[in-house]
Amino acid sequence: MNESRAWIEADLIVSGAGELLTCARTKAASGARSTLGVIPEGAVAAHEGRVVWVGRTSDLREEVRLARGGQVVDADGRVVMPGLVECHAHLAYAGDRSDEFQLRVAGTSYQEVAEAGGGIMSTVHATRAASDEVLRALTRKRLDYFLRFGVTTVEAKSGYGLSQEQELRLLEVYRDVGAAHAVDVVPTLLAAHVVPVEYLDRPDDYVKIITKKMIPAAAKHHLAKFCDAFCEKGAFTVDQCRRVLEAGAEHGLLPKLHADQLTYTGGTEMAAALGAVSVDHLDHISEAGIAALAAAEGPKRVPVAVLLPGATFFLGEGGYAPARRLLEAGARVALSTDLNPGSSPTSNLWLMATMGCSQLRMSAEEVIRAITIEAAAALALDDEVGSLEVGKKADILILEETRHVEIPYRYGMNPVWRVYKEGRLVVKRDLLGEV
Ligand code: NIG
Ligand code: FE
Repeated sequence: MNESRAWIEADLIVSGAGELLTCARTKAASGARSTLGVIPEGAVAAHEGRVVWVGRTSDLREEVRLARGGQVVDADGRVVMPGLVECHAHLAYAGDRSDEFQLRVAGTSYQEVAEAGGGIMSTVHATRAASDEVLRALTRKRLDYFLRFGVTTVEAKSGYGLSQEQELRLLEVYRDVGAAHAVDVVPTLLAAHVVPVEYLDRPDDYVKIITKKMIPAAAKHHLAKFCDAFCEKGAFTVDQCRRVLEAGAEHGLLPKLHADQLTYTGGTEMAAALGAVSVDHLDHISEAGIAALAAAEGPKRVPVAVLLPGATFFLGEGGYAPARRLLEAGARVALSTDLNPGSSPTSNLWLMATMGCSQLRMSAEEVIRAITIEAAAALALDDEVGSLEVGKKADILILEETRHVEIPYRYGMNPVWRVYKEGRLVVKRDLLGEV
């Protein structure tokens, strides 16, 4: 190497990947089908928590120099890829709904359970009764689970408090637990989850409390990045959700929406018109909704379609989201667990990738992008995480698998071998678990 040429300095090098998946951004608007940016025999170098170099292991020695005290890790033919991004999770709650699951198995629908006083409201009662300490411990444990599955960024919704004091308390739990945990926590105010029992006869009064009190307070204390609402029969109407999301936007909270999950409501079209960052669920989306999510030229933000096949699977009422039609229309599609006690009590985002293939007919490339770069876009974080590109966070996974097609294939398993969060080793496993 020429003496005058500048070396790139690294304090972490992962080399010898069978396949390195960059998951780099592609121009969605061009209509070009996305690829994973597979680099055979790839390597990645990081310095002070950021990616500084990505390429072939054979080129590494020519360009990258290891800093004093730095570390080289041999991936030994394994897949190396970005940390996963979980873009839709209900993290802070107490209690469980395993009895309700058995009622549903015996034939009572999710909405019938809710109408009978169970469902989301039963988790609200349990959550309100739990101490801060208990909620913090439960949230920490759920983040630990995610991290072991290779998830390095997690969105976290409130929504089981449903009063100003309780909703802000949940957001404070996220702030406190997130500050001390390796996983990045991205908080969302979901005060419009359901109408709390106290307001059942006057839902608009509750909406007013959200728009006039909770949103300004959450924004003032920088407790939330996003504002979300559940647009559904038995939850909030399109018009009520619009008011909530508009008030959120006025206070700098970016809009998201639970839309068209159990029935068609038109929520997707409304959220797209507001420039929402994502619309989530979409099992019953309309043709107009699909068209509203199609990639568009120009500055207008088109929401990412976040699909939650685990919720559809666990409710067992059928009707998976039309992923193929969304992709063919040019929509950006992300996948998420929807972790919550009612419709999807799992942290296994890899399993969602398998369901993406077997139930939604997405390809291995599409599902892997859907849990990395597209999920990052659903959190407006695609400049920071979701791909291995120079300048981004060095959130790096080394998997047991050697080829990316194996990822959705071996289902219900945890393929993680090592997790690095901003260049630091945070999970070390072997086939039998932690080592
Ligand atoms: O995303 N749809 C609304 N919220 C959750 C379910 C919450 C619950 O049942 O506790 C969801 O599926
Ligand atoms: Fe949800």
